[in-house]
Amino acid sequence: MNDRTKYEILTFREMMKAYTTADIGAEPTDQQQKLPPPAPVKQGTKPVILPLPLDFEEAVHDKSLLTLLKERESLRVYQEEPLSQKELSFLLWATQGIRRYAGKTQQITFRNVPSAGSRHPFETYLFLNKVEGIRPGIYHYLPDSHSLELWEDRADYQEELAEALCGQTFASHAPVTFVWSAIPYRTEWRYGRKAHKYMLIDAGHVCENLYLACEAVGCGACAIGAYDQDQMDELLGFAGGPSAEQDCEFVVYVAAVGKR
Ligand SMILES: Cc1cc2nc3c(=O)[nH]c(=O)nc-3n(C[C@H](O)[C@H](O)[C@H](O)COP(=O)(O)O)c2cc1C
Repeated sequence: MNDRTKYEILTFREMMKAYTTADIGAEPTDQQQKLPPPAPVKQGTKPVILPLPLDFEEAVHDKSLLTLLKERESLRVYQEEPLSQKELSFLLWATQGIRRYAGKTQQITFRNVPSAGSRHPFETYLFLNKVEGIRPGIYHYLPDSHSLELWEDRADYQEELAEALCGQTFASHAPVTFVWSAIPYRTEWRYGRKAHKYMLIDAGHVCENLYLACEAVGCGACAIGAYDQDQMDELLGFAGGPSAEQDCEFVVYVAAVGKR
């Protein structure tokens, strides 16, 4: 192992740890400095908005938690059959849906997944290919209104997405590909240098809920960690490259979804 590798391993291992002596003397977090918190969700800016059905419970099979846990597995081969809007609506609700708002200015969201300090640093984008009654394209989930905005009106994303997913065509050609971005400042505002450990743990909760929710609606999911960062960020129109800016957003996790 050369010195560079050793240094990188040491640095990244330290990132996985909780409060250590390295925190002593660190700059107070922006919350401790009483700076205003960032918005808890990214508001829609596009003209086409699709409200999602809220009566999705009828799409959910009455399976026990034991069965869901026993059946969960990574699924990489999907049926031709499209997802229904209710199924998709349930998957979005289960992974990032908002249950309630809290705080003096209602700026804290409580959702169906846990998140350190309830900061919920993620946005959800869908590369949507086969959902009944929804035109294929790239969508952004708006959790405030439980709706989708048409992020980019293009159905021909598959080849570029396959390249960005390091050739994993099962995922680029899946009925729906979930892509989660992080807006790290949401969590950094509260936790400073501890935020990055917490955000990656948070991402795992989101995807696990997707796995279990998929099992409950006759679908399957496969988590994807192997993707080209620059290509994925470019596909969604993010600035890319290193940044310490507050509005920085980049992809952190992907999951393919389809019917079993
Ligand atoms: C963080 C993470 C990244 C993953 N990345 C990929 C991936 O890029 N491609 C893939 O086919 N599977 C990926 N998987 C799925 C794992 O290969 C899978 O969970 C593992 O083989 C165990 O199988 P199971 O999920 O069916 O239990 C990933 C899983 C996790 C949790």
